[in-house]
Amino acid sequence: MWRTFFIFTQIIVMEYQSIQESFLNIFNTNPEVIIQSPGRINLLGEHTDYNDGMVLPAAIDKSIVVALGKSDNQSNWVSYNYNETYTTDIQTFEKNSHHWTSYIKGVVNELLSLGKKIPNFNMVFGGDIPLGAGLSSSAALETGIIAGLNELFYLQLSKLDIIQIAKKAENNFVGVNCGIMDMFANVKSMKDHVLLLDCKTLEFSYFKFDNSKYSIILCNSGVSHQLVDSQYNLRRKSCMDGVAILNSQKPTINSLRDATMEDLLNYKNLFDPITFNRCLYVIEESIRMNLALESLQNNDYQSFGKIMYQTHLGLKNDYEVSCEELDFLVEKAMSFPNTMGSRMMGGGFGGCSINLIEAGYEAAFMQFIDTAYFSNYGKKMEIYPVKITNGLERIA
Ligand code: GLA
Repeated sequence: MWRTFFIFTQIIVMEYQSIQESFLNIFNTNPEVIIQSPGRINLLGEHTDYNDGMVLPAAIDKSIVVALGKSDNQSNWVSYNYNETYTTDIQTFEKNSHHWTSYIKGVVNELLSLGKKIPNFNMVFGGDIPLGAGLSSSAALETGIIAGLNELFYLQLSKLDIIQIAKKAENNFVGVNCGIMDMFANVKSMKDHVLLLDCKTLEFSYFKFDNSKYSIILCNSGVSHQLVDSQYNLRRKSCMDGVAILNSQKPTINSLRDATMEDLLNYKNLFDPITFNRCLYVIEESIRMNLALESLQNNDYQSFGKIMYQTHLGLKNDYEVSCEELDFLVEKAMSFPNTMGSRMMGGGFGGCSINLIEAGYEAAFMQFIDTAYFSNYGKKMEIYPVKITNGLERIA
């Protein structure tokens, strides 16, 4: 336990120091603000955030560190991981997207449209959230930059403002019609707890996660979810189409959150099969969430884990956002005796599976799944045992 904690602390310090040193080397001065913004997992409630449903995410000990300082005449933004610098002027920057800069431009654009004064600034950012792995590196970058600019230029933004601005940047500038879960988890998470968020009212509470008995291990399928943007937006559209059908019959239904299974079955004949299946998944996931919360309250991780498997089947068969590698990982995990639950996590089409493993069996599980993946796909897989941490913090 202490060893793990020690390693974890060291990694964070290393990350923080390399970004700070890099800023100093490039700009000949220390950064004025440094923010650490974590990635996130989600235990349950997948593709429910944009349906006004409930989600159960948590921040993890993989993060992006953002170091910022004021600049007089131009903005220089440096991606530590890509080893690339982008120079622009805030007053005139072009809106065309240039991979990682679109996240920065997106948040700056939203801040400007809110009437905030954003002068030029220098920035170095980098971290250890694997890209394209479904751990919300983009949301971590967006919230990290907004929180940093908030401190640097005294923008008087609340935590909720930071969350909502980041979401708008992703929706309006990056073009992914995502929900609010990722940003909320980045900002509001609490160490050793999962966050229960009601995406309709934005009310939230915390559940203690019993990490003395269970560990969370992520297996990266290695499939980088490139399809995610267009397919993700299509899933969201199917849900909206379903809501329009249900609303035409029952005007009190304004999101899938408001619909019951009975409603869906009553009007099944009005649906095409694909739209029906998408809505079926979302409504079933809401039902599963209620059961899962009961299990968590009773510390019954065995029942919770079984619900995770059911979620995977729904995501695979009805929502159709899984892929062969993720299905393989979940099936294999299921056959390991000390796995409580396993499923694909996040937007889908690749990225990670999340596995709930009985404490004491982590190394055996990693060895088992690693060997299975290697013998099937002939390549090594990245595996991340993760700990639940606090949401974003100013660290300097
Ligand atoms: C992505 C999105 C989130 C959420 C998940 C699926 O991570 O950014 O808003 O919809 O997919 O649950």
